Amino acid sequence: MSNPRIAFIGAGNMAASLIGGLRAQGVAADAIRASDPGIEQRAKISAEHGIRTFADNGEAIAGADVVVLAVKPQVMQAVCQDLRQHLDHAPLVVSIAAGITCDSLQRWLGPQPQAIVRCMPNTPALLRQGVSGLFANAQVSAEQKLQAETLLSAVGMALWLDEEHLIDAVTAVSGSGPAYFFLLIEAMTAAGERLGLPRETAAQLTLQTALGAARMACESDVDAAELRRRVTSPNGTTEAAIKAFQAGGFEQLVQQALNAAAYRSAELAEQLGK
Ligand SMILES: NC(=O)c1ccc[n+]([C@@H]2O[C@H](COP(=O)([O-])OP(=O)(O)OC[C@H]3O[C@@H](n4cnc5c(N)ncnc54)[C@H](OP(=O)(O)O)[C@@H]3O)[C@@H](O)[C@H]2O)c1
Repeated sequence: MSNPRIAFIGAGNMAASLIGGLRAQGVAADAIRASDPGIEQRAKISAEHGIRTFADNGEAIAGADVVVLAVKPQVMQAVCQDLRQHLDHAPLVVSIAAGITCDSLQRWLGPQPQAIVRCMPNTPALLRQGVSGLFANAQVSAEQKLQAETLLSAVGMALWLDEEHLIDAVTAVSGSGPAYFFLLIEAMTAAGERLGLPRETAAQLTLQTALGAARMACESDVDAAELRRRVTSPNGTTEAAIKAFQAGGFEQLVQQALNAAAYRSAELAEQLGK
């Protein structure tokens, strides 16, 4: 099936990004549908992307090969229970909701086994610069895996996971990750200002450095540790800063922060799946 029909349940920010990405890749508007209770959301997404929209979720998924669950985790149970009577055609179900396990989705979607891909995208998906971790349950075929990967690749990079519990680690690294970089940007801007730079100058220096360093790390054929060694001359300014970071326990602090995020991710999945 080269051109799957895709239905989005929920036409909010993430759905709009995915639809925009798919359209930019040449997916035809009539291969995409979306449903949302909000009349304004429907009008907006329809005007922007030329797709058909529905107030009724069941109508939106009729005949769809892929159903993308793009609603908030808190409403997922009710949404799935409404959809279960419309799933006789056995579409692939792709969930992008944080903290909802494949087991919970299967339980809510009904007795017959469903092909489910659970994804953890991140906010830069809104700029098509995201990265997602994907996990497929045993019902997902090779062709459906490709469909899910193509969908998530429309907003960035898509990486498969062999075990579902690793979604918690993905959440800790990339799901929550943008905020860690924002925190570093905040702290560096404030420190630059305290060193005497005008705030705007400190902010621009920090942002362009973040962007440049990320691009260097992405485009280089050596890893970040080697790139760091190359810019750290003995007794130089960078070494002085790195030593100060390490004396403050930087690496351990990063590990503790990611452990806390992963733990919270698992805890939320347990609460939301009840
Ligand atoms: N944004 C991100 O960067 C990001 C990153 C990773 C994962 N996610 C996940 O992506 C999912 C969507 O996030 P989002 O940021 O796109 O949220 P959003 O902008 O709030 O979009 C969700 C949409 O679903 C609609 N909705 C509510 N109840 C519905 C129902 N019963 N049937 C159909 N649609 C319904 C909402 O309408 P109302 O506004 O009227 O309620 C809203 O338009 C979430 O589960 C989130 O965990 C998002």
